[in-house]
Amino acid sequence: MERKEFISILGIGAGSIIISSCLGACGKSDGPTPGPTPGPGGKVDFTVDVSTNADLNSKGWTILNSIIIAKSGSSYIALSGVCTHQQNSMTYNAATNTFPCSQQDAAHGSVFNANGVKINGPATSNLQKYSTTLSGNTLRVFEA
Ligand code: FES
Repeated sequence: MERKEFISILGIGAGSIIISSCLGACGKSDGPTPGPTPGPGGKVDFTVDVSTNADLNSKGWTILNSIIIAKSGSSYIALSGVCTHQQNSMTYNAATNTFPCSQQDAAHGSVFNANGVKINGPATSNLQKYSTTLSGNTLRVFEA
């Protein structure tokens, strides 16, 4: 085997090992959180019929367009539905009016308040909050 050929094979092999190691160990990481799809004006703006949304009526919250919408008393809260830690989905706890990450094992467990402010890590950044207005049964969720 020529020296050049040997180095070439070694280089591909080493690269493959590094790539395969990373694919196995590199999971989701902190970083920009994938957000909702903006409307035609470049900002989030959509409506929900709260009288017919099955999740809102059965469990008090739902996720639409990557935004978690929760019924809190007579009003609605809309926050990013994607955890800022490692992008798992959010849930709502009506008893505490908080938004726990769906992953609550030892490596996760982030919780946010009704304004999207992190109250328990490991997440290091807050959830984006969206404005809501209710007109009849039509809830508008939008970026101000
Ligand atoms: S992804 Fe939410 S706490 Fe880890």
